Amino acid sequence: MSEFRILVTGGAGFLGSSLCQSLVKMGHKVVALDSLFRGNLENLSEVKDAENFTFIHADVREVEALDGAVETLGGLDLVFHLAAVNGTKWFHEAAHSVIDVNINGTLRTLELAMAHDARYVLASSPEAFGEAPQQPIRDGNMMQFTDPAKHQRHSYGASKYLDEVACQHAVREGLDVRIIRPFNAYGPRLVGDDYGQVVSIFFNKLLNNETIVVHGDGLQTRSFTWIDDVTDGFVKAGLLEKGVDGSDLSGLAFNIGSTEEITISQLAQKVVSTSGKEGTEIEFGTGYFGDSKRRLPDIEGAEKILGWQPTVDLQQGLQMMWNELTEN
Ligand SMILES: NC(=O)c1ccc[n+]([C@@H]2O[C@H](COP(=O)([O-])OP(=O)(O)OC[C@H]3O[C@@H](n4cnc5c(N)ncnc54)[C@H](O)[C@@H]3O)[C@@H](O)[C@H]2O)c1
Repeated sequence: MSEFRILVTGGAGFLGSSLCQSLVKMGHKVVALDSLFRGNLENLSEVKDAENFTFIHADVREVEALDGAVETLGGLDLVFHLAAVNGTKWFHEAAHSVIDVNINGTLRTLELAMAHDARYVLASSPEAFGEAPQQPIRDGNMMQFTDPAKHQRHSYGASKYLDEVACQHAVREGLDVRIIRPFNAYGPRLVGDDYGQVVSIFFNKLLNNETIVVHGDGLQTRSFTWIDDVTDGFVKAGLLEKGVDGSDLSGLAFNIGSTEEITISQLAQKVVSTSGKEGTEIEFGTGYFGDSKRRLPDIEGAEKILGWQPTVDLQQGLQMMWNELTEN
């Protein structure tokens, strides 16, 4: 198929807007649906006037809105389901909403894809593995969650786990489903408010000449992945008919992440040195319960089957992001 009719839920968000941009540029017909809970129309400024793009302001759990998106597209070939409540503070503060949006949004969009026999790509998360005692994160590892009486952090990860369960069930029912797990995407449009995400929070502190606060002892690790690399992973997972090695892609989950693992403490230092504001203070504050100690992807599947690889290293990416933040 040369031109797809594509629904991107969460299309005004950080990843969704970048994905819409790529798909519109490629000539596909795209509808972005977003409640603007955390997304922003400014993220879509580059595509908003394109004749092959439409934005629908709606909740992903509303079936009528999803049907309206299909009507606008004149049919449905592919769904990228990215709408979710994202941002660590929300997981603790608003567990009910996180569970409701993340699980019901996935169920409603899976039903839509089934009704139109459309391909479906889920934005899952490494947090579907919970506190992920086994590293690197790869299929077959235990998905392990701790006591919800102590904290609600896993309202997010466990909802992504159930999203994956629902997707694998849909595969058994005959739907073509591919799963992407992005690892800490970062780039210029990343939100950096009280709710997350860490790279932007740190850069915002530098822009305001404030102290950087690292959660906990700062020894927890993450693998930060440049936005265009993550977008490329989504595009490949959605548009490839078969894997580059000839594999059937349905039912496969791909870790899309850099393998450059770094502690949050080291990240804080790197961000400071990138900005040139060497005198900035770094403090250690209280950590979040349930935070995973390490997050490192095994990307063998993405490399061999999708032909995907990260292309931008952390230092390069941080520099590009800082340049863009300080130019505007
Ligand atoms: N950014 C990452 O590193 C990362 C890592 C793992 C997983 N993910 C997943 O990728 C997806 C996109 O993440 P992101 O970083 O762009 O986050 P984001 O918060 O920028 O995007 C999510 C979008 O969903 C929208 N949304 C929230 N509730 C909605 C609802 N009820 N109806 C319609 N839209 C709604 C928000 O307004 C937002 O625009 C999410 O599913 C997230 O869980 C992202």
